[in-house]
Amino acid sequence: MIDNRSRRAFLLGVGASGLISVLPIHSVTAGKRSPLILSANPTKFDILNGEGPKTDVWAYGSTIPGPEIRVRQGDFLRVNFENGLPQESTVHWHGMRLPNAMDGVPNLTQKPVKPGESFLYEFRPPDAGTYWYHPHVKSSEQVGRGLYGPLIIEEPAPPLVDREVTWVLDDWRLDELGAIHDSFSSMHDMSHAGRLGNVATLNGVNSDKFSVRAGERIRLRLINSANARGFALNFAGHEPTVIALDGHPVSPFSPANGRVVLGAGQRADLIVDMSGKPGETFAVDDDYFSRQPYRFLDLVYDSAAPLRDSPLNAPVNLPANPLPKVMTDQAETLDIRISGGAMGQMRSARFKGEEMDIRELVGQGKVWAINGEVFDPSSTEPMFTLRKGTTQRLRFSNDTAWPHPMHLHGHAFKIVTRNGVKAEREIWTDTVLLAPDEQVDTLFVADNPGDWLLHCHILEHHEAGMASVVRVA
Ligand code: C2O
Ligand code: CU
Repeated sequence: MIDNRSRRAFLLGVGASGLISVLPIHSVTAGKRSPLILSANPTKFDILNGEGPKTDVWAYGSTIPGPEIRVRQGDFLRVNFENGLPQESTVHWHGMRLPNAMDGVPNLTQKPVKPGESFLYEFRPPDAGTYWYHPHVKSSEQVGRGLYGPLIIEEPAPPLVDREVTWVLDDWRLDELGAIHDSFSSMHDMSHAGRLGNVATLNGVNSDKFSVRAGERIRLRLINSANARGFALNFAGHEPTVIALDGHPVSPFSPANGRVVLGAGQRADLIVDMSGKPGETFAVDDDYFSRQPYRFLDLVYDSAAPLRDSPLNAPVNLPANPLPKVMTDQAETLDIRISGGAMGQMRSARFKGEEMDIRELVGQGKVWAINGEVFDPSSTEPMFTLRKGTTQRLRFSNDTAWPHPMHLHGHAFKIVTRNGVKAEREIWTDTVLLAPDEQVDTLFVADNPGDWLLHCHILEHHEAGMASVVRVA
C-alpha cells in the first residue's frame, strides 16, 4: 500500500539518489498519410527511476506511457498496431466517438489481433481534448504491465499557455526486486477495490519532482491510466482551473479545495499558473484514499526570474465539441443497477443464461453484475437495444460498497443529477465516478450505430463481470 507521507518510504527500501526530473513524453503526429506504427512489445523500463533494477514491462513503442499521439480535431488518425506481445491484443481509443469497427473491443467490434499480426485503425476524431489508448484484451494484465498512452486531439486554436504538459498517472504492484507482481485477476482484487499498486508513477517513472518556472502558465493534461486507483491531486499553494473533463470543455472552475479527483480512466485539463517564487518547492499530495495520503511529487521552482510580473487573465472557455443535442423531454430511462462485490448484498446473478448463487459465481471468477446479469465476454448479446438518434437517460445505481468509474464506449453523456441533486455545472463525460450507494442520472443521444461496451473502468471489476453491451441500431 501507498501509506506514507513520503514517497521514499514505499520505494521498497532501495537507496535514495539525487532528484531526477520527469522524462518528456515523446510525441508523434498521426495525421499524416502513412500510418503511425504502434507496436506493443515486452521491454525493460526504469520505473524506479534509477533506485532499483529496471522492470520487465509491456510497452507501446518501448516507452511508458506509449508515444503521445496527436492529431488536429477533424483530421484523420491512422495507426497501424503491431502485436509483439505473447498474447492477443487490441487498441481501444478511450473516449473517442468513432466508428464501431475501430473501437478495439475483442469479438464485439473486431477479432483480437494475434501475436505477430497487425491491425490498421483509422478514423476522424470529431472532438478535441485529452484522451488515451490502451488494450481491451485481458486489460487488467495488459494495462497493468504498462500498455497505455496519451491521445491528444488538438483544438484548431488552443488556449495560449507557456507550456503544455501531459501527466499520465499510474500505480504499479512491484515486488522487492522491482518486478511486476504476477497476481493478476486475484479474487481479492476483483471483489474489493481492484489491483492497487505500491509504487505511484508519473509518465511511467517514480519521479519525485517536476520543475517549473515562476510566472509560467501550464496547461496540464492529467490522465489516470491506473487499473483501479483513483487519484486526488492537491496543488498546495496554487489555484488550478479545470477547463475540460474527460476531453470535453467545461466552463472554467476551481475545484473544491484545489483537489482534482480522477477515477480510473478519467482525464482533466487544467490551467495552472506557477505563482510561487524562484527556488520555492510545493508538495503535490494525493489523498484519494483519505487515510493513506502520500506525496505524489514536488513542484520545484528553478532559480530563473519570473516569466512575467503580473498575473494573466483567468482562462476562458474552450470551444464546445460538436456533441448531439439531448432531447430531455423525450428521454427513455435505462436503469443500470450495479450489484456484487465484497460486503455487498448480492446473493445470486445470471451468468451464461443460468441463475447462479454467489459461491458458484466466485468459483467462475465472477463477483459483479449489472441488472442481475454477469457479463459473459464470449457472448455479444446486448442488454439494451436503442433506436439510433434517441435520447436516453442512463440511470446508474450503485448498490455496492465500492466506488465505480463507469465508462460508456463511443458516446459522451451529460451528468444531470447525483442522488437527485442537480449537477452544479454542465459536464460531458465518458466515465462517471459513482460513490457507494450513489445514484447518478445522465443523458446522451444514442447516435453512434454499433455494439458498445458499458463497463466499470476498475479493470478487475470489468473482468469479474461488471460490463454489458449497448446496441445502437
Ligand atoms: Cu478505457 Cu472499455 O475502456
Ligand atoms: Cu467497479
